[in-house]
Amino acid sequence: MKVFFILNGLQTVIDVDPDRRVVDILREDLRLTGTKEGCGSGECGACSILVDGESRLSCLMLAAQLEGKKVITVEGLASGKNMHPVQEAFVEHGAVQCGFCTPGMVMATVDLLSRNAEPTRSEIREAISGNLCRCTGYQKIVDAVEVAAKAMKNEGLRVKNGGEG
Ligand code: FES
Ligand code: FES
Repeated sequence: MKVFFILNGLQTVIDVDPDRRVVDILREDLRLTGTKEGCGSGECGACSILVDGESRLSCLMLAAQLEGKKVITVEGLASGKNMHPVQEAFVEHGAVQCGFCTPGMVMATVDLLSRNAEPTRSEIREAISGNLCRCTGYQKIVDAVEVAAKAMKNEGLRVKNGGEG
């Protein structure tokens, strides 16, 4: 079947089996390998993408569910050469070790900050509770999310989450 959707701001059409998983479409068909597959069963959050502005698990989504949606992957967050403030905060505040969980964590964070510009530490922990990290112990990730929230507030940046405009 043909599926029409917007991917990282670009009109996109793919011709795939309706039950092909979105994580496979992204990684294998479209070569957007920033989205990771960990568990493949909705447990780890590594495959998180934004669909109409909300964090979704691409390992649990099928091609047909993309129709008419606005999808943002981690590749679509930067503006030119400038990383998204969430990406910048993760890099600068030690929230990335092996990096496998990072794209999913970043997408969950962008989703959170689009709904809640000043989350508490416990709200941050709750928002990333579906994203597993085996390296960092989470402390530095929560620190980075706080820094990103402050940076975005100070700079008056709008959260680029694909759910706007
Ligand atoms: S790969 Fe999708 S939740 Fe783990
Ligand atoms: S940085 Fe390695 S899993 Fe999170």
